[in-house]
Amino acid sequence: MSLKIFMCPPDYYYNIDYEINPWMKKGTACANQAAVERWNELKSIIHSLGAEVLTMKPQPGLPDIVFTANAALIYRDKAVISRFRHKERQPEEKFYEAWLLEQGFKTVRLPENVNFEGAGDALFSGETLYSGYIPRSDISSHAYISEALGIRIISLELVNPRFYHLDTCFCPLTDGYVMYYDKAFDEYGNRVIEANFPEEKRIVVNEEEAGLFSCNAVSISKSVIMNKTTDRLKKVLADKGFNTYEVDLSEFMKAGGSAKCLTLKLNEHSV
Ligand code: ARG
Repeated sequence: MSLKIFMCPPDYYYNIDYEINPWMKKGTACANQAAVERWNELKSIIHSLGAEVLTMKPQPGLPDIVFTANAALIYRDKAVISRFRHKERQPEEKFYEAWLLEQGFKTVRLPENVNFEGAGDALFSGETLYSGYIPRSDISSHAYISEALGIRIISLELVNPRFYHLDTCFCPLTDGYVMYYDKAFDEYGNRVIEANFPEEKRIVVNEEEAGLFSCNAVSISKSVIMNKTTDRLKKVLADKGFNTYEVDLSEFMKAGGSAKCLTLKLNEHSV
């Protein structure tokens, strides 16, 4: 079975109308045509790597709906639907939920007062889920999710406001590797990562690479797709057997998102 990835095209992606993370500056114009082209380029690369891309119709007035990583956390036949922290994104929840139900997922709803932003804050390395908290997701979500899905969760506190979702600074890769920005975590968070990934499996990005959202990468077997990055990181990845594919995703970075945010793996645990 091929890997299935969920994406939503940026048809209504025009302006930054609200600020809910430090990357967003109200009034910034997004070049819609360029966004559509770059999004299509990302989609073609994913497709060329053997994955199937499934799409949902976007909604006018909900520009951030393109960031499907935040739709839900998927595990086998279950989808834990997000409960967004900010009111600007809460109307997206029902569209994501309806689409995932249509795809045959059993949806899980968290209690109303528990915020959780899906795969943006929850990434698997094998069967272990790493889950970020504070800026967008509440740590209380972790216990609910662990019970609903029957999985082990390792909680990681996000301490740097620029890296407000775990997927902006932490990226598990194939063969037990992890690429991350150490300064997005405090000393304790770093100790937790070090305790779970042996040194030879850890790829630490520098400040420049973190700022280019290099950790916000789509990992498909030994290929890694990301926004334009440095030669240094490409070399480090190549030395560990990874091919890097770059797409200029600067239009989406105006909203604080990049490659990984624009995708959601639907069957990571069944392929
Ligand atoms: N503007 C969006 C927000 O602040 C960007 C989301 C990026 N998604 C992600 N998974 N990091 O919610």
